[in-house]
Amino acid sequence: MKTPKIITTRAELRAAIHEANPASLGFVPTMGALHSGHGTLFTQAREENELVVISIFVNELQFNDPEDYRRYPRNLEADVAVAQAAGVDLIFAPDAEEIYHAGKPMIRLDTGVMGALYEGESRPGHFDGMLAVVSKLLHLADPGRGKYRAYFGQKDAQQLMLIKRMVADLDYPVEIRPVPIARTERGLALSSRNALLNQQQLESALVLYRAIELIAARAARHEPLHLEDAIGLFQMTPEVELDYFVVVDPNTLQELAFNCQDTPFVGEGLILVAATVGGVRLIDNQPI
Ligand code: PAF
Repeated sequence: MKTPKIITTRAELRAAIHEANPASLGFVPTMGALHSGHGTLFTQAREENELVVISIFVNELQFNDPEDYRRYPRNLEADVAVAQAAGVDLIFAPDAEEIYHAGKPMIRLDTGVMGALYEGESRPGHFDGMLAVVSKLLHLADPGRGKYRAYFGQKDAQQLMLIKRMVADLDYPVEIRPVPIARTERGLALSSRNALLNQQQLESALVLYRAIELIAARAARHEPLHLEDAIGLFQMTPEVELDYFVVVDPNTLQELAFNCQDTPFVGEGLILVAATVGGVRLIDNQPI
């Protein structure tokens, strides 16, 4: 597999895309610390496009906690290996000055009601900062002709919904392609933050998936969900602090009313969960 070309400036990125003149371009924005979960995004982009471009940029604007930003894992050499194995053509790895060349954005996208819920409530400013960079990156990788697709993991369900909404509301000429969550054999959703957990914490982190499975199984049997049982699992697990465990409308993210009632589950929903394990924030979700 050929080594991906690493570029660091907007001008080089534009020139490389222009030169390749692809009939289709698949773009995967990332913050690095790449793992096999990212690999599934790259592979899908590879299967569907002539040129595959990824970005690696740890976007300070989307970290509401400076300590979280500081300790976010960074390892370009290892990232290149993951990208190479999946057949990525170009890696755009700019520094902050290159991305925020005009200074921190003064003009901001408003993520609205949907951006204020869940992750937005627990991490104020996170989604504004995320959209600030995604909107820029989607412009920078735009081939200007041919098919343009961008790939995002379903693990970040709320992020994905906001990006889809931005693309629809602002008519971005890109197709957003969601990619299913990649999990370890025991169900832990792959995340760059898993690298910050020790063995005991990795064990504790499995509670997110166990709780999801418990509720998803009840939903499949059209039983009452009794979310309190799932919440109880978190209380029994060492080093874990639950932020939210909710069942929401998959289109609006509004919490579903039956959620707190003793009524059988019908229709469709989306389980959303966030918890910290040893101080590391993890999220997961599953449609039901
Ligand atoms: O999901 C991520 O890794 C980031 O939020 C993204 C989309 C690359 C924007 O920085």
